[in-house]
Amino acid sequence: MSIRFRDALNSIAPYVPGKPISEVQRELGLEKVIKLASNENPLGCSSKAKDAMMEVMNTPGLYPDANSTELRNALAKKMKLKPEQLFFGAGSDGIIEMIPKAFIDPDDEAIMAVPSFPLYETNTKLAGGICIGIPLDKDYFFDLDAMEEKINDKTKLIWLCNPNNPTGTMYTKEQQDAFLEKVPDHVVVVLDEAYYEYVTRDDYPESLQLLDKYNNIIILRTFSKIYGLASARIGYAISNEKIISYLERVRSPFNVSSYAQAAATASLEDDTFKKTSYLTNKENKEYLYSTFDKLGLVYLPSETNFVMVNVNRSSKEVFQSLLHKGIIVRPGYLYGMDTWLRVTIGLREECEEFVKALKETVNNK
Ligand SMILES: Cc1ncc(COP(=O)(O)O)c(C=O)c1O
Repeated sequence: MSIRFRDALNSIAPYVPGKPISEVQRELGLEKVIKLASNENPLGCSSKAKDAMMEVMNTPGLYPDANSTELRNALAKKMKLKPEQLFFGAGSDGIIEMIPKAFIDPDDEAIMAVPSFPLYETNTKLAGGICIGIPLDKDYFFDLDAMEEKINDKTKLIWLCNPNNPTGTMYTKEQQDAFLEKVPDHVVVVLDEAYYEYVTRDDYPESLQLLDKYNNIIILRTFSKIYGLASARIGYAISNEKIISYLERVRSPFNVSSYAQAAATASLEDDTFKKTSYLTNKENKEYLYSTFDKLGLVYLPSETNFVMVNVNRSSKEVFQSLLHKGIIVRPGYLYGMDTWLRVTIGLREECEEFVKALKETVNNK
């Protein structure tokens, strides 16, 4: 008899990460490679965070604080929340992994948009749940009405991603309010706000204000994006004490490293870095928009640090062509958007190199 894996794994493909720079350099013999594929902060992180991590290097033999106490208190103070309303994970990925473990029994349903962040689907399935995927509307925005129509007695979770990855599109406060009003109390709604700090529009929801009104929401934020700490792996959830206490039951004790805790705590003290990151992203997004306009390429309005652009050709081919020119982007076929590319908004010179390579590729066909 052969080894029998879990049935749930038959419909799960391993996550395809953006290629690392060193691998592309080695494979293609390129000296200079620019990675605009994983929505990382091109400015790195705050020097305060770096110093804090260096300090932790003096005590590598000690386990981290299992409760992230210093960070918890600092963040709670900053957000005017109780420390017990916060929950930390190894990236928000780590929390997305734990949420279905806390809520999904076999054959329970979870509603999510398609395309959206792929780990909602993977982790729901791993817990034995059934994924109800709702396509984005024709303009690539969330179809909240269609999501609401799918709610039934088996629904346990709804995964919302605002702004959405991979499209960068957002729904408004008004839309979110109307949606949440219609969701029954027994359904938990996850509001993944990984790109919260990059949002420029003022009709974006301020979900923290909803915590008193709804007992069924979990807000997710991360230190990987604007704070530039993707390598440290730290994200957090904000909810009520009851939900957090159940999430605590599925968490492994030392899931957030000391480096991550120290770096995140120090980052909270550096508003200048955050502001500079926001402004750099906004400026370079406008540069990309204006170049796409000149090239006659359609793009989606983004409230994140990436832009989805329709290159009207096979994204697989354009991805390969750009790769050979030393530019790594994210091809849309991975998300069922075959002629689109998702490009992270890098430094101005990186965006310029990308545009140059894109023009060469587009003109060559
Ligand atoms: C929408 C969304 N959620 C969650 C994550 C996970 O981020 P991390 O695990 O680095 O916090 C990402 C990363 O790209 C994302 O785009």
